[in-house]
Amino acid sequence: MITCSAPGKVYLFGEHAVVYGENAICCAVELRTKVSVEKSDEIIIESVLGSTGLDHDTHPYVSYVIEKMRQFADIQGVRISIESELPVGSGLGSSAAVTVASIQALNHLYECGLSLEDIAKTGHEIEKMVQGNASPTDTYVSTMGGVVMIPQRKKLNLINCPIVVGNTHKFSSTKELVGNVAKLRNDFPSVVEPILSNIGQMSILAERLVAEGDYETIGKLMNINQGLLDAIGVGSAELSALVYAARSSGAISAKITGAGGGGCMVALAKENNSEDIAKAIENAGGEAIITQNTAEGVRLE
Ligand code: PMV
Repeated sequence: MITCSAPGKVYLFGEHAVVYGENAICCAVELRTKVSVEKSDEIIIESVLGSTGLDHDTHPYVSYVIEKMRQFADIQGVRISIESELPVGSGLGSSAAVTVASIQALNHLYECGLSLEDIAKTGHEIEKMVQGNASPTDTYVSTMGGVVMIPQRKKLNLINCPIVVGNTHKFSSTKELVGNVAKLRNDFPSVVEPILSNIGQMSILAERLVAEGDYETIGKLMNINQGLLDAIGVGSAELSALVYAARSSGAISAKITGAGGGGCMVALAKENNSEDIAKAIENAGGEAIITQNTAEGVRLE
């Protein structure tokens, strides 16, 4: 049996602005989806969602992975088991992680010889098949790991402080929120375009700050980024409750991560206060997960 895992991600800066070519900084987090594969008589996909064969409704990502990997190997029967630490559909890149880990596990099992670049590219193609449209960011960061400047795909230093994620458990549709921002930008270009461009500027300023490990200043910029995300309408009462709970309990910074509307927020913590921040997030109605960034993308377990 072969087991591979791939990480999820948070945005330190730049979601939504990145859709318009602005810079963003994304960071792989040590919350992983593990995929185990072994040859079998038939195709079996097992997860918390149930046990199925090729099934594009229940297990769309893995089903497309199997079909796609048939370009590289003669895949007849295979048992694929999925276990994830990533909440599904909450902006932490769970679909990219399961896709990338499945590709790499089959790549090893059938000795297909795919490189990491091939895996990131194939992963992106599969996300597009399932979602209709998808940015390449999640699959790239899940494959390569680390802190990544988008769109250049430049690796920055790791962030040396705890990260606390707060999940509102409120569903959010990336497609709908991206559409709302597009409409706002169309209705008020002279107002919204500078906001998106200012968000992009924060990633550019942050590149040096990440290199210097100046988390206090990074945090100030992340908080400004949060204000601008609110300004373009992707905030929500639930997200704000978690953001302010985190800040009042000593977080260096707290902002939405991903599309917004619902889903998750992310806070940078000091060495000694991640537990306090997590408690404050839970008291404000969210689910808190303490994690850290990771240099490692997809890996063989
Ligand atoms: O919530 P997520 O992880 O799907 O992130 C969406 C990020 C956006 O910038 C809003 C959209 C995109 O495709 O980059």
